[in-house]
Amino acid sequence: MGSNLARNLASREGNTVAVYNRSYVRTQTLMTEHPEAGFVASETIEDFVASLSRPRTAIIMVQAGKGTDAVISQLAELFEPGDIIVDGGNADFHDTIRREKAISATGINFVGAGISGGEEGALKGPSIMPGGSALAYETLGPILESIAAVVDGVPCVTHIGTDGAGHFVKMVHNGIEYADMQLIAEAYDLLRHVTGHSPAAIADVFTEWNKGDLESYLIEITAEVLRQVDAETGLPFIDIVLDEAGSKGTGVWTVQNALDLGVPVAGIAEAVFARAVSSHPEQRGPVRASISARPEIAVVGHTFVDDVRQALYASKVVAYAQGFDEIIAGAAKYNWSIDKGAVATIWRGGCIIRAQFLNRIVDAYANDPSIPTLLVDPFFAAAVASGESAWRRVVSTAALSGIPVPGFASALSYFDSLAAERLPAALVQGQRDFFGAHTYKRVDKPGVFHTLWSGDRTEIATEASTH
Ligand code: 6PG
Repeated sequence: MGSNLARNLASREGNTVAVYNRSYVRTQTLMTEHPEAGFVASETIEDFVASLSRPRTAIIMVQAGKGTDAVISQLAELFEPGDIIVDGGNADFHDTIRREKAISATGINFVGAGISGGEEGALKGPSIMPGGSALAYETLGPILESIAAVVDGVPCVTHIGTDGAGHFVKMVHNGIEYADMQLIAEAYDLLRHVTGHSPAAIADVFTEWNKGDLESYLIEITAEVLRQVDAETGLPFIDIVLDEAGSKGTGVWTVQNALDLGVPVAGIAEAVFARAVSSHPEQRGPVRASISARPEIAVVGHTFVDDVRQALYASKVVAYAQGFDEIIAGAAKYNWSIDKGAVATIWRGGCIIRAQFLNRIVDAYANDPSIPTLLVDPFFAAAVASGESAWRRVVSTAALSGIPVPGFASALSYFDSLAAERLPAALVQGQRDFFGAHTYKRVDKPGVFHTLWSGDRTEIATEASTH
């Protein structure tokens, strides 16, 4: 990804790009393979730094973690105040906050920038989410704008906020990416097993869906994956891939931080857990072997394929609403002023979750920047309402047929929880008060109360903590 980003930079008018890798052989390979880039290669980091014009800007693309710290400290030794170090990896935003604090104390600027789009995006135009100081962005902004994807004339980059804001937003982007992928995978599974479509036929369905409101990069590539035939066996590619999904950690971080922030990103969590469940063959095998028969596939009407489309759209709205809730909560906790509309704008191109759909989120925040959830935006509320019956049919069909749909079901439960007149949370409060004197509030008067459960069961008003 680093070399593609360097090639992208080098292809822009007026840019000369210096490259450095701790393995000089790799640098030489890059030089040989891409002479057109006109790279300036350095064998040592000292030479690399000396080759940069001031203020120096270095974009680091290394594995997140200790490797990043090592390269940052090498650069910080040689850089001078006003220079800029950019970490373009998928760093944990807490690390970025720590690094920014330490580096900026020396007068050097440190920018954690989330970069999405994979290898191809890095080359052709990624979506870039830089944090760091506004001052650093003055120099860095034009450089990043020159290499970012462009949608409707707008480069897919914006200054997200100070210190770790960029990496935080990239983390949530990846969490949404996990949820979106899981929902699409569930849609595939339903079409495969309920309506009995072949992978190639499902590819055609997705291609059709990609012409409507589900249009997105992920739907597009899903069709390509499903159309692929394994050269060795002649079987659909999807049938020769081991069904155990891996992950590199950003989805887990999104959920961990959401738990800390108290934001119910249930759809993202289900996507992370679904990968984890898939990766436990030692449990899946014995459970499958212990069951004598699986439920019969429920009989469905001829509109089922379209029901799945509508369920996918409604569940997707929920996943994005939850992701944006996390961004809002993170911004409040870490003191970032994040423009949600600008985030949706720069996700329209270059990144893995790029989609037309993002335009609707831009509109929603433009209409009401403090909307309590995207689910009450008039456009999304109407879209979910029109797909609601289909959504329920799909989730119930899946349950009756024994097809796991953690993403669809969780999204529907979340929607139903927000929509319910009363939640059984009242009973949970009663249970907590019973066993732990954790107290409760009443619906009919202010104050905090406890019932003397082990005494005469009278109620007392208390100032005790409500936690
Ligand atoms: C992107 C991707 C990219 C990568 C992640 C997710 O935005 O370009 O999100 O960052 O694919 O590492 O990978 P995992 O699925 O392995 O966690």
